[in-house]
Amino acid sequence: MRMRHKPWALPEMQQDNKFFETPRELKGKWQAEFGNDRPIDLEIGCGRGDFVTALAKRDPMRNVVAMDLKNEVLVYALRKVNEATLDNVRILSMKAEELDEVFAQGEISNIFINFANPWPKAGQNKRRLTHTRFLSLYRLIIGEGSTIQFKTDDEGLYEASLEYFPEAGYEIFYHTDDLPPEHPGNIQTEYETKFRDFGMPIYRIDAKAASITVERLKELLEFKEKSKQREGRPIWRNYSSDELL
Ligand SMILES: C[S@@+](CC[C@H](N)C(=O)[O-])C[C@H]1O[C@@H](n2cnc3c(N)ncnc32)[C@H](O)[C@@H]1O
Repeated sequence: MRMRHKPWALPEMQQDNKFFETPRELKGKWQAEFGNDRPIDLEIGCGRGDFVTALAKRDPMRNVVAMDLKNEVLVYALRKVNEATLDNVRILSMKAEELDEVFAQGEISNIFINFANPWPKAGQNKRRLTHTRFLSLYRLIIGEGSTIQFKTDDEGLYEASLEYFPEAGYEIFYHTDDLPPEHPGNIQTEYETKFRDFGMPIYRIDAKAASITVERLKELLEFKEKSKQREGRPIWRNYSSDELL
């Protein structure tokens, strides 16, 4: 379904100091932004914010950054965060493709990806937020041992992601093709509620960042490297082997 453009969404969010647009200036400075040294978790493609609001309420001793590329949904996420008077959340309007420009390595503890677009056509698979090339990019902002929790309603995306995670240097420690709603700690998202109402199964993968060699990561991130080189900013400049092993 096509989303209606909401010209008021961006101006409304720009009034709020919890909201940022691709804030490259905060790279390496997120603890200062939150004013504490607590761990920072990240939700990618947060939509209307049910998940981030519940997560931040449940874990007040952690910080959460939630991002999406559509201001039309982010505006509702920001309203929910404010209604719940949460000061441990920041909302970002940006593309997942640019996450390494906004967060330094190890700055993010855990990542959540909920009901990402399945991009089923072969030519579009690379746009999946759990595609090997995205998982490799996330490796640049988390540390070894960080986790990614991924949920989907799409069997094809789930099956493919079971291969993408190990390919990108992650170890899967839990997966299911039928997540019960009462699974310990499960937080239901807007899309999850809709799919459960239709009686559809929910798939989930939990994976941990294992060690990966710089060479392998370079190989996986070739797509990003090429576009950065075109802009004159090679991304490997700042990474040593030790940091990524
Ligand atoms: C199907 S919705 C799911 C929303 C929410 N996570 C939920 O479970 O209810 C997928 C969301 O991912 C966002 N998205 C898709 N590709 C993205 C990208 N490359 N970067 C950031 N957000 C993206 C979309 O704008 C959309 O809001």
